Amino acid sequence: MNILAPSLLGCDFTNLESQIKAVEEAGAQYLHLDVMDGLFVPSISFGMPVIASLRRCTDMVFDVHMMVRDPERYVQAMKEAGADLVCFHQEACVHLDRTINQIKELGMKAGVALNPATPISVLDCILDQVDQVLIMTVNPGFGGQEYIPYTLKKVRTLRKAVTERGLSLDIQVDGGVTLENCHLFLEAGANVIVAGSAVFRGDAGENARALMTVLQEREKRVQEENTCGQI
Ligand code: DX5
Ligand code: ZN
Repeated sequence: MNILAPSLLGCDFTNLESQIKAVEEAGAQYLHLDVMDGLFVPSISFGMPVIASLRRCTDMVFDVHMMVRDPERYVQAMKEAGADLVCFHQEACVHLDRTINQIKELGMKAGVALNPATPISVLDCILDQVDQVLIMTVNPGFGGQEYIPYTLKKVRTLRKAVTERGLSLDIQVDGGVTLENCHLFLEAGANVIVAGSAVFRGDAGENARALMTVLQEREKRVQEENTCGQI
């Protein structure tokens, strides 16, 4: 299934609730929450208290993107704050296998994120254990950047590996996605699309609806192609 994950980092922080409602009503399934520690990435964003407050105003899936060193320190606290999916960076975590298990044992979905320059081969041994792989299409830390073209090739290679191994994990892309270029990521094999500025710059509801239309049309086309292939 194709999923839209508006990234709250791009929104107007004086008006969180109304913007979340707008994207929820537009059909976006995930809310992408970027947690930054000022160490793994230069910037600092928000953490558990904000996430816990937001939990009270929506039932959307909370997709927490941990741009934090040693993320295992916060897994339990993220669960308590209301996270549904915790995605941490391979580059920030020494014990990947243990951290994935820790997340899953708490009943959350586990995702691993890769910076643009990190090859997907680092995930070979744990690919069948994760629910999601996040391919960063910009260097993490800030919204509003342009996507790095070579990351599309990583998405294609990963989708091929996932299909060949008969896995069903989600492939998420994050950074520089716009209404105009969104189809490139979908065609490469991503099915969870993060969008910060493309959603929250301007009318969030309208922007999210336009992106949802692209995601749904692509999904419909793929389903039709598969049905034709089976006849
Ligand atoms: C960047 C964050 C993104 C960010 C994306 O490090 O992980 O989620 O909000 O913003 P846009 O969509 O504006 O590139
Ligand atoms: Zn993110």
